[in-house]
Amino acid sequence: MFDLAAGAQGVKVPIDQDRLWQRHAEMAAFGQIPGPRADRSGVNRPCFSADDIAARQLLITWARARGYSVHQDPIANLFIRRAGTTDGAPVATGSHMDTQPRGGRFDGIYGVLAGFEVLEALDDAGIATTHPLEVVAWTNEEGGRFAPGTMGSMVYAGAAKIEQFLDTTDIAGTRFADALAATLAATPAPVDRRFGDAFAGYIEAHIEQGPRLEHAGARIGVVTGIQGMAWFEVTIRGETAHAGTCPVGQRRDALRAAHAAISSLYQLTADPDDTLRFTIGRFVVDPGSPNTVPNLVRFSIDMRHPDPDTLARLADAIPSTIAGAVGPCTAEVRTTNRKAPMRFDPAVIDRVEAATKVLGLPYLVMPSGAGHDAGYVADLCPTGMVFIPCEAGVSHNEAEFARPEDLAAGAAVLASSLLGMAGTR
Ligand code: GLV
Ligand code: MN
Ligand code: MN
Repeated sequence: MFDLAAGAQGVKVPIDQDRLWQRHAEMAAFGQIPGPRADRSGVNRPCFSADDIAARQLLITWARARGYSVHQDPIANLFIRRAGTTDGAPVATGSHMDTQPRGGRFDGIYGVLAGFEVLEALDDAGIATTHPLEVVAWTNEEGGRFAPGTMGSMVYAGAAKIEQFLDTTDIAGTRFADALAATLAATPAPVDRRFGDAFAGYIEAHIEQGPRLEHAGARIGVVTGIQGMAWFEVTIRGETAHAGTCPVGQRRDALRAAHAAISSLYQLTADPDDTLRFTIGRFVVDPGSPNTVPNLVRFSIDMRHPDPDTLARLADAIPSTIAGAVGPCTAEVRTTNRKAPMRFDPAVIDRVEAATKVLGLPYLVMPSGAGHDAGYVADLCPTGMVFIPCEAGVSHNEAEFARPEDLAAGAAVLASSLLGMAGTR
């Protein structure tokens, strides 16, 4: 038992480090993939896959064993509620359970399990809260299978309509709507939660996914906000031709055009300060035969920056940069997600910082480079985040690792901060 005093309210919450670690290990079995060492396996658990469904089912089993109620909304966001002494709006925490194709054991699931640990620790200590507490597992945060990410929180918060995503397909052609229906059918919890139902507050715990905390020797990141992002799907169309006979000068080679477009994009987004993040993470060539000139290339763009004007200027320049580079081919550029940089509620930031100080943990006040569900929940209620370090800042990688004592320390900060918002009588 790792007993950190959640001292902001003078209440001790017995965070159980071993239980929290064990729960991570149990969840990591769903979608386990080899990692760099035997004890460092990774996880591939795409949204609505059999492994994602199994993880949801296990979480529900744990919740029911504790007597918590479980609900879903129509996009399969999962809500686990520990009753309060009054019926007010819940104070919520959580994150996501889906992963990247070559993901780790902590990105996302930590926020869900840290929240669940807080509920269990409160039970163990016999502490009642005034507001109910909820742990939310948000649907499709990663966007690796169905783009864009953060669909669940986006729809819950009203930043998008579920109808926008129903016909989205994964790379195998499966519709989001069909995978969603199968998941809801396989998940033993009523679909009786409405989108947008109020929270009194929301705090999400997450691994940092970058190296700043480790470099600073800090145990906690008090998160001030999230940098902006712009996602695109680019389709370049040409014409198939025989690789041995068709003169190069006569071709409409979609891959050559994509190569030229990408070179221009790398020039457009070159940043001597290394603040801008620009990634092409998916690239598909059709028909994909060695001796046929490609007629179609489709690729993704993920671009991020903390300054709204810089992000808008570059995002606006992307379609014309591509169009100017594709020669005899055509290009279609579709925006799949756009989110301006955002700041969390100052009172929640202060609350997380105060809890961290009382616990005596070294910390940094810092923005998030990664996107999170909290970025959308912030449209609904006062919101903040707690980061913990991850080894060498590695994430979206099977080697991702966070120390058990840091998982517990983050859960203690979370417990203290949530208690402050939920009240203890
Ligand atoms: C979430 O994983 C993100 O892409 O920031
Ligand atoms: Mn995440
Ligand atoms: Mn992620």
